[in-house]
Order: sequence, then structure tokens, then C-alpha cells
Amino acid sequence: MNVVFLGPPGAGKGTQAVRISTCYRIPHIATGDMLREAIARGTELGLLARSYVDRGELVPDEVMLRLVEGRLQEPDAQEGFLLDGFPRTLPQAEGLDALLDRMHRRLEVVVFFRVPPETLLRRLSGRWVCRAAGHVYHEAHHPPRVPGRCDLDGSELYQRPDDRPEAVARRLEVYERQTAPLVEYYRARGVFREVDGVGGLEEVTRRLCAILGEAGTGRT
Ligand code: AP5
Repeated sequence: MNVVFLGPPGAGKGTQAVRISTCYRIPHIATGDMLREAIARGTELGLLARSYVDRGELVPDEVMLRLVEGRLQEPDAQEGFLLDGFPRTLPQAEGLDALLDRMHRRLEVVVFFRVPPETLLRRLSGRWVCRAAGHVYHEAHHPPRVPGRCDLDGSELYQRPDDRPEAVARRLEVYERQTAPLVEYYRARGVFREVDGVGGLEEVTRRLCAILGEAGTGRT
């Protein structure tokens, strides 16, 4: 099953991708997580990405395409993948199509998360992320058992620099201008589905499972 999760910042793509990728046994490939890891390790990619990510701007397309191309060639991605946060520009979407063609593969479903702007702002301002592995919490909707500590590995929770109000405003603007046009791109290709992203975590997961089932992808 080859899937893309598309939607604005804070829509719940990452949260649901963790659940769906476990259930369908496909790797969750989150370009934002890959960039944050590179930044934390201080690699060449991290040094380049930092200024873009912290300001809420997009990292250049050719850098992202190279990163995803390498990741999709890894052994665990051969039976399927769940892309989260990629593609997010038209050149990235076209580059992904060309890459999958070369690999004799195709996208089966692109799921768009519909969530109103006021909900996105509430979700982003209350998000806490674990330092060790990026596990995601929300102070109201999904709080950790011990405040400030990850339930799964006990590491410290922090707020992402790009969740500051000025960076969030920029990310939403960039999303509208550069990523929202992908809805029409994928609609025209017949792979587009939409999920109502408002509701409890379990409820949204149930809706996604129904959509993936209907899309004829089945469980691997
Ligand atoms: P990235 O990490 O991809 O950020 P994003 O797309 O802006 O998405 P988010 O991680 O903010 O939101 P999400 O939809 O995953 O929501 P989440 O599940 O966490 O990218 C970061 C940056 O990296 C970009 O700005 C850019 O600079 C760069 N980058 C990445 N990919 C790139 C690319 N392809 N090209 C160029 N640059 C790129 O949920 C949010 C909160 O809500 C959490 O607290 C969660 O607990 C809570 N929540 C989730 N679901 C629910 C629910 N149903 N009910 C209540 N609360 C919920």
C-alpha cells in the first residue's frame, strides 16, 4: 500500500500516521521528522534545513526529492509506504510521480485531512513533542501521564520552535499558497480521498481505516 497523507500543519497527519503505519505494517516516512533529526544531529542537511524549518518556510524541492528518493529505496519501503508531509509543492508531486514511475510503482491513495483553521491553531499551540523519539502529545487532547515527560520513553517534552505563533502563521500561509493546490492535482489523478480530521483520535483512525479499505488497498 502506497499512501500519502496531505493536509495543513496541525491537522493530525503525524498522529494518525503512527497508528496507520503500525496497523498496516508500512513505514511512516515523515519528512518533517527526518529534517528535525538531521538538525538535532547537526548534519550537512540539518545545517541547511534549520533556517527554513524554524521560520516555517519550505526546504528547497531538490533537497527534499533527493531525501525521499533515498528513503523510498530502503528495504522496508519496498512493500509500501506512508508519506507524511511530502509532497507539499507541485514540483515535489511531479518529482514523486516520476520517481515512482522509474521504480514501477504508483500511489494508491492520497488522503487529505480536513480541519478548520481555529482547530489547527489550538492543536499547534498545545502540542508537546518528546526529545528522544518525536512522540507527540497535546496538553488538552492527549496529555502525558506525567507532565513534561514522554509516556513511552520518559524523555523530556518540548515545544517545536516552529509552533511559535509567528512561525505557525507563516506555515499556514505557505500551506495555502504551495501545498493546497495539490488537492486538485491528486483529484485529477483519481487517487484523492478526504477525511474529516475533527473528532477523537480513535474516531479519526476509524474513518481512515474505512477510507483505506474502500480505496481497495486492504491490509498487507
Ligand atoms: P512537518 O513536521 O511536516 O510539519 P507540518 O506538515 O506542518 O505538520 P505538523 O507536524 O505541524 O502537523 P500534523 O498534521 O502532523 O499534526 P500532529 O499529528 O502533530 O514539517 C515541519 C517543517 O519541515 C516545514 O514547515 C518545512 O520547513 C519542513 N518540511 C517538511 N517536509 C517538507 C517538504 N516536503 N518540503 C519542504 N519542506 C519540508 O497533531 C498536532 C497536534 O494536535 C498534536 O498535539 C496532537 O496530539 C493533536 N491532535 C492530533 N489529532 C487530534 C485529534 N483528532 N483531536 C485532538 N487533538 C489532536
